[in-house]
Amino acid sequence: MTMTYLTYKNGDTMPMIGLGTWKSKPDQVYQAVREAVRIGYRHIDCAAVYGNEKEVGKALKESFEDGIVSREDMWITSKLWNNSHKKEHVAAALQKTLSDLQLDYLDLYLIHWPVVLKPDVVYPENAGDFLSLEDVPIIDTWQGMISCQKKGKIRHIGVSNFSIKKLTALAAESHVAPELNQIELHPFLQQKKMLDYCKTNDVLLTAYSPLGSKDRPAALKSADEPSLLQNPVVIETAGKNHCTPAQLLIRWAIARGTAVIPKSVNPDRLAENLNALDTSLSPEDMQSLGSLDQHRRYVRGNFWTAPGSPYTYENLWDEEM
Ligand code: A2P
Repeated sequence: MTMTYLTYKNGDTMPMIGLGTWKSKPDQVYQAVREAVRIGYRHIDCAAVYGNEKEVGKALKESFEDGIVSREDMWITSKLWNNSHKKEHVAAALQKTLSDLQLDYLDLYLIHWPVVLKPDVVYPENAGDFLSLEDVPIIDTWQGMISCQKKGKIRHIGVSNFSIKKLTALAAESHVAPELNQIELHPFLQQKKMLDYCKTNDVLLTAYSPLGSKDRPAALKSADEPSLLQNPVVIETAGKNHCTPAQLLIRWAIARGTAVIPKSVNPDRLAENLNALDTSLSPEDMQSLGSLDQHRRYVRGNFWTAPGSPYTYENLWDEEM
């Protein structure tokens, strides 16, 4: 297994496979991170709202203490939650994440969503819980991020769930453009225009929910959801390559030049996912998987688009339903 990397403009490198921790329960994530680091993961994707950063932090600290890896050899990403978008709230939110993760700095900090909640709201229950992007413009949040970066608390800054339109607007408003956008990407949602835009504009991409995120809470699933891991083309192409469907999906993401953050809390699957690096896909395989595109979002942002909210499916993703 030889890791591949994405390179930032200043030469910093980020391992292309990272461990996803969304949906990992606090009591499971500690073991998962310990095991992941032990077997060679060097990139962990976290977020304040996942509610498990303390346990991730404990696993990291013990891995450093045991001499398994040094801080400098790990890539740690976290994300600013929607209720801390006001410029003056960014530093405190970052500090909480740093203290939970027991770190002095993050490698990458992202604005989690282009959505603003009132400071005392974690998940919205009614329309009054939201603030609009006119109330708290993204550029204000971004300035808060830049200021934390200047203080040395974050090496790189970026965004998540941003459309091309929002990336373009932010790049035009600030002399510091986002270095990375973390979005949902897999064969059912290939987002080729976004890939082209990011390549042209030096924005790196990380693919979330690369395996179709089947462990999402039922409330976030639609009834007719197709399964990525059980798709016949995925199964057949994996068989041809003597790899598993999950390894195929991870390798596909890497072949497209994106970082990828499969989540697992199971030791066998952690190893399986990292070993995706041993597979290679032919142009025909890429073409077969390419034919699966259907613009299917598993993560549709339903939390944000309840009636009365300033956010709709259309203005969240800047696309038609
Ligand atoms: P588990 O944590 O029990 O391994 P995503 O990364 O798209 O969010 O998908 C995560 C889901 O996929 C979880 O339910 C996770 O379960 C499962 N998963 C992770 N790795 C594999 C694998 N190699 N094969 C099958 N399912 C996997």
